[in-house]
Amino acid sequence: MITREELIKEYIEFFRKNKHKQIPSSSLIPINDPTVLFTTAGMHPLVPYLTGQKHPFGKRLVSVQKCVRTGDIDSVGDKVHHTFFEMLGNWSLGDYWKKEAIQFSFDFLTKELKIPLEKLAITCFKGNEDAPKDEESEKIWRSLEISKDRIAFLGKEDNWWGPAGKTGPCGPDTEIFYYTGKTVPKKFDPKDKDWVEIWNDVFMQYEKTKENKYIPLKQKNVDTGMGVERTLAVLNQLEDNYQTPIFHPIIKEIEILSKKKYEGHYKKDMRIIADHIRATTLVLGDDHLVKPSNTEQGYVIRRLIRRAVRYGNRLEIKNNFATKIALIVIETYENYYPELKKNKNFILTQLDEEENKFRKTLESGIKEFEKISKSKKIISGKEAFLLYQSYGFPIELTEELASEKKIKLNMDEYDKEFEKHQHLSRTQSAGMFKSGLSDNSEQTTKLHTATHLLNEALRKVLGKEVKQRGSNITPERLRFDFNFPRKLTEKEIKEVEDLVNKKIKQGLKVERTEGNLQSALKSGAQAEFGHKYPDKVSVYTILDKKEKSGFFSKEICTGPHVKNTKEIGHFKIIKEESSAAGIRRIKAIVED
Ligand code: ALA
Repeated sequence: MITREELIKEYIEFFRKNKHKQIPSSSLIPINDPTVLFTTAGMHPLVPYLTGQKHPFGKRLVSVQKCVRTGDIDSVGDKVHHTFFEMLGNWSLGDYWKKEAIQFSFDFLTKELKIPLEKLAITCFKGNEDAPKDEESEKIWRSLEISKDRIAFLGKEDNWWGPAGKTGPCGPDTEIFYYTGKTVPKKFDPKDKDWVEIWNDVFMQYEKTKENKYIPLKQKNVDTGMGVERTLAVLNQLEDNYQTPIFHPIIKEIEILSKKKYEGHYKKDMRIIADHIRATTLVLGDDHLVKPSNTEQGYVIRRLIRRAVRYGNRLEIKNNFATKIALIVIETYENYYPELKKNKNFILTQLDEEENKFRKTLESGIKEFEKISKSKKIISGKEAFLLYQSYGFPIELTEELASEKKIKLNMDEYDKEFEKHQHLSRTQSAGMFKSGLSDNSEQTTKLHTATHLLNEALRKVLGKEVKQRGSNITPERLRFDFNFPRKLTEKEIKEVEDLVNKKIKQGLKVERTEGNLQSALKSGAQAEFGHKYPDKVSVYTILDKKEKSGFFSKEICTGPHVKNTKEIGHFKIIKEESSAAGIRRIKAIVED
């Protein structure tokens, strides 16, 4: 049986041998990306470099990236879908192109992993009004002895990747399939479910614009992605991903806890528990220290934990179980993601608290649901809201219970009810789950620079020990977390606000430079606490002659930023609150 560790090692080593530099896995929570809640692919942290910025590690990169995709949450429970997964990827940033990329994929699969050629099949882009048929890739595959019968041309729905959001880098792709059935058919039929996609080579040569146009990028990039869980299942000829060495110990534990076997209809329940607690553990263990809550990432993990607890209840697991599973997850991943070790207590405490909270109301909530849904065809929005507010049922859970009983739910009415109670609108957060890459709009660019001014203003007003602990920007507002032991006074908030506005009015120049991480830190550049940076970094400096150092703020950051602070407009703090023990959170806006 090939293990996760072996697969990752072989992959990274193969590409290192071929002159790729390994980059560390980025945080699961994108730092400079306002439009998404989670990192969804290995390319996610690389967007600025796919669009022309120079990467400090060069033009050939390789990584294993932790990812979360919430769009697939309802499919979890089948054999292959996950919320958290790891993606192996190699990149060419304007360096090699199709020939080398395909050759690398081919060599890794057939020579390193020793997959017999006859088990492989390929899809290529068939062309549309935006881009031509990818005959070049077909030719390359043919030159590697892949027969014509094993190459299919498909449309944009299948053979085009990105942009992950509304705009950004994208392009046609060529996908590699592995046959998981018994006798390999001569001809490849992409609709035959026994052919499983294992690798995607994307040729990112276009940028999708706001006007829905595809314009050529400055450079032609290669972006590839191979899912670790699925590839392991396929290579080991296992029936589902949960039998790989990654999940096996977790499923075993659930069998012990529930006194049931992984078989029949219990399979789905066990898979959901395993997947959701694994994802939650990785998100809680990220250095951003997100807690279960009713908004954004916090809401996602709340939903995952509560869904897992409900399935635990179905399996008649009597006592709290989430932390028992989390311990196995931590053991599996801690050598790759040391933050899990560091944040172990936080993970376990948060999981246990959330499980306790939900267990208290789960049984009575289910009873209430049974009462409401008895002899009914539709559950009203008000009833769904009651389940949410009084019993802590995330709406998706009520939706799931309703669909199991084949009854409908009045979602519009629920949304209205929800809005009425001034919670984050569900549509808004659902939009964020799905959407993709950086929104480099004018407004977010202004907020990025305002965040740097705020960071320094806080340090000036509250003291130099203040450090950034997280940041999130949407086109509407910035959110900034920092360490500070108490609530800020009104006077302090006003002082910080005034100082930021003063620096905006002064019209300070914003300058971008590149350099080595250590010397950037030595020169006084601020870095986010607990964030991993590469050795070479870009630094944004807000110049200020009034300061002895010659600058007001200096931060390691990938941008984007305004050229002059006067572009920002008027800065206003709209909220100051606690975010976690010893961590404060400020929300602020900029106005014209
Ligand atoms: N970015 C591509 C994917 O996620 C490789 O499939």
